[in-house]
Amino acid sequence: MATLITGIGELVTNDPTVGDGSPLGVLPGAAVVIDDARVIWIGPAGDAPAADDAVDLAGRTLVPGFVDPHNHLVFAGDRSAEFAARMSGEPYDGGGIAATVRATRAATDAELRAHVERRIAEARGQGTTTLEIKSGYGLSTDDEQRALRLLDGLTDERTFLGGHVVPPGADRDEYVRLVCGPMLDACAPHADWIDVFCEPASAHAFDGDESRAMLEAGARHGLGLRVHGNQLSTGPGVRLAVELDAASVDHCTHLEPADVDALAGGGTVATLLPGAEFSTRSPYPDARRLLDAGITVALATDCNPGTSFTSSMPFVIALAVREMGMTPAEALWAATEGGARSLRRDDVGRIAVGAAADLTVLDAPSYVHLAYRPGVPIARALDV
Ligand code: NIG
Ligand code: FE
Repeated sequence: MATLITGIGELVTNDPTVGDGSPLGVLPGAAVVIDDARVIWIGPAGDAPAADDAVDLAGRTLVPGFVDPHNHLVFAGDRSAEFAARMSGEPYDGGGIAATVRATRAATDAELRAHVERRIAEARGQGTTTLEIKSGYGLSTDDEQRALRLLDGLTDERTFLGGHVVPPGADRDEYVRLVCGPMLDACAPHADWIDVFCEPASAHAFDGDESRAMLEAGARHGLGLRVHGNQLSTGPGVRLAVELDAASVDHCTHLEPADVDALAGGGTVATLLPGAEFSTRSPYPDARRLLDAGITVALATDCNPGTSFTSSMPFVIALAVREMGMTPAEALWAATEGGARSLRRDDVGRIAVGAAADLTVLDAPSYVHLAYRPGVPIARALDV
């Protein structure tokens, strides 16, 4: 059944060949027709074909649904006390992950699935239509596999993060062998990606050699590669990700010139997670430096109970603009097309004929309002 969307005050397509010629491809006075969950027509409202149904946006803005390519939604428990301690000066080192592992292992399948479904709905209510979701709070073969199985039917982008931290009490070398062997065998059939927390500065996370071993094992199982890199300090994460042709390296908070050069010469997207810097009271990544070097930048929430308990891409966009030197246009592109590239997808993150009908309405006359009206719930995914 075809639906005609009219009354679009401003249409952001992310197609640079249309509209104002900018990367956002902004079209005034346009209409969109969707059918069977795909966009089938875009053009001047006056030329729109007949459809079975019509939606009038009454001058609101229509943008591609946000693509959030970094989330840790499969967890139970609460770490608000850890956040409060950080706001009193405690540093973040990943040690709190163990508390979430305990709570997650103790939760039933039904409880965990309900938590994930509620968090996905919360994100959608703020305009997110594609979410990558990681395991990483199980850290045993059974608990990691369970986390991924619980995601069946909830997302097409499931990431195995057995390499999050060494679980309490485990021997480091034995744990890396477990992740590369039996845990990966059990988890790979339920995952699309593998991720590791490559952070030699944390006693809990993994160094470059350990990260390489886990990523290469994941690649041998047919998984795409993602890396948590350079969050807490400089280190090997970014260069390792580029060398192994990971789709994305995430955080990128502490970069050396060689990291920027590697990203500029490679095919790996830099996914920035300013919610984590907000919630750990850390310096923000230098998005301007990356953009000026021609590097593809994505934005994500990193929704997790430790460093960034937000599901709000509009909040992340506002931080990117205010704190990371991005323009409103760059931030919206990074939150849509940038996220799609971070997931190596070309069917989401844009409004184009043939793309998914993943559409987000802004209760505003312009996409600039995403950063201009911080904290105001103007964005929602369109249910059509
Ligand atoms: O992306 N840094 C590693 N993992 C998460 C935090 C996990 C946690 O503290 O629970 C992140 O920030
Ligand atoms: Fe993360």
